[in-house]
Amino acid sequence: RVLILDFGSQVTQLIARRLRESGVYCEIWPFSAEEARIRAFAPKAIILSGGPASVHEGESPRAPAVVFALGVPVLGICYGQQAMCAQLGGEVQPADHREFGRAFVDVVDACALTEGVWAKGGREQVWMSHGDRVTRLPPGFRVIGVSEGAPFAFIADDARRFYGVQFHPEVVHTPHGAALLRNFTHKVAGCRGDWTMGAFRAEAIARIRDQVGEGRVVCGLSGGVDSAVAAALIHQAIGERLTCIFVDHGLMRAGEAEEVVATFRDRFNIRLVHRDASDLFLGALRGVTDPEEKRKTVGRLFVEVFEEEQRRLGGADFLAQGTLYPDVIESVSATGGPSVTIKSHHNVGGLPERMRMRLVEPLRELFKDEVRALGRELGLPEGIVGRHPFPGPGLAIRIPGEVTREKADLLRKVDAIFLEEIRAAGLYDAIWQAFAVLLPVRTVGVMGDQRTYDHACALRAVTSTDGMTADVYPFDMGFLTRVANRIVNEVRGVNRVTYDITSKPPGTIEWE
Ligand code: XMP
Repeated sequence: RVLILDFGSQVTQLIARRLRESGVYCEIWPFSAEEARIRAFAPKAIILSGGPASVHEGESPRAPAVVFALGVPVLGICYGQQAMCAQLGGEVQPADHREFGRAFVDVVDACALTEGVWAKGGREQVWMSHGDRVTRLPPGFRVIGVSEGAPFAFIADDARRFYGVQFHPEVVHTPHGAALLRNFTHKVAGCRGDWTMGAFRAEAIARIRDQVGEGRVVCGLSGGVDSAVAAALIHQAIGERLTCIFVDHGLMRAGEAEEVVATFRDRFNIRLVHRDASDLFLGALRGVTDPEEKRKTVGRLFVEVFEEEQRRLGGADFLAQGTLYPDVIESVSATGGPSVTIKSHHNVGGLPERMRMRLVEPLRELFKDEVRALGRELGLPEGIVGRHPFPGPGLAIRIPGEVTREKADLLRKVDAIFLEEIRAAGLYDAIWQAFAVLLPVRTVGVMGDQRTYDHACALRAVTSTDGMTADVYPFDMGFLTRVANRIVNEVRGVNRVTYDITSKPPGTIEWE
């Protein structure tokens, strides 16, 4: 196993992710971890992450001395490299040429990390983000790579098996970065690479048992992948002591509420409270047209109903949430960071603050596709594991203007046809999210010999890796016209179909 010491970089979790992808178990600890704890962990290798600090500022963080005394391979990335050099007798200074984003490294020598990946004499693309740079090497090191802004962009001390890179091998913008990391863990540190999601599952179950003890846990199910996987995992850990609460706001897609109940109660035998609160939600949404107001209304009611159901159960000691790593980063920047709130996503925050319960968040370090892999490992059906993301406020934010039960019913029908055709064409998994929006305009049409005056709808389908940016899915015209035909013919009340061709940015994925 490998220990990652975190100096606070935004991308530290990506190091862990790359290691897991190559079958290596790792843990991320803060750089301030105690020496005794590090020794007891007995890592096969240590990676020092990047971070926002500057090595020549007085109080800047350092790696614990034991890191360099254990005799295990050490890889310093960005700030980690600088800290390592400063601690081993080198020198770091502010660079006059700061590098952010894409850069190139000239490979001037070879080492165990570059074996089979980078050839000596080549020029390799990397991703950099630094203001400081190493200006004098500590004894024992030699230069492997040079960039315009960093004369020691890649350094190695083969005897001690210490390596340092100024660039970030963990991000995808460093095309061969994962292979460099793999050489470090497999070739240099001798990791076998046999760690799997099955092992993660076993460890996660042990951690949940440890945390919860004899306590009771409640978990809100939304029909989405994250809460489903969290619930299935926790159920395997503590069985009957988990109760799931599914607050049905009546704004789910066609068939989704039924599927949640069928899967969790009937198939997995999980204790499940299904509360049909659609009247309550639709009643509260009457007259509400502002998107943020809709979110707040749904969010507030959700908490109220959830609390009510939980009280009815006689309380619980823990609240389980399917928080993923990207939620953790996004909500950090949403509370206190310099970024502007574009939309308030009610699935992060809100609930726990009010309920003052201890949280169980077994997916906190995973990314979406890892959660899907874990869900498969747990035996969840593909229909749930592979499901597109769906927003907490559901169809309420896909019906611009006032939301009514009639409109929601109409939209469900349109949406179901669109998704059915996407599945039939084998495109579902190639798309990040696909859905229909019911527009608040009526348009004139002609059907048979009759004039119609009905709703228009928009179809939206995007590709994305994290929902932060998105591209329009390029359906062919034949597909789109087939879908449009079916919708207009089969859904009475809709007579016009448009396809949204806006990317994100400048658009967002949802319309509201
Ligand atoms: P946007 O529309 O901001 O969406 O580009 C990015 C991702 O977030 C989802 N989304 C939400 N999820 N509550 C949620 O739980 C919300 O209020 C909300 N708004 C957007 C959206 O479906 C997409 O996956």
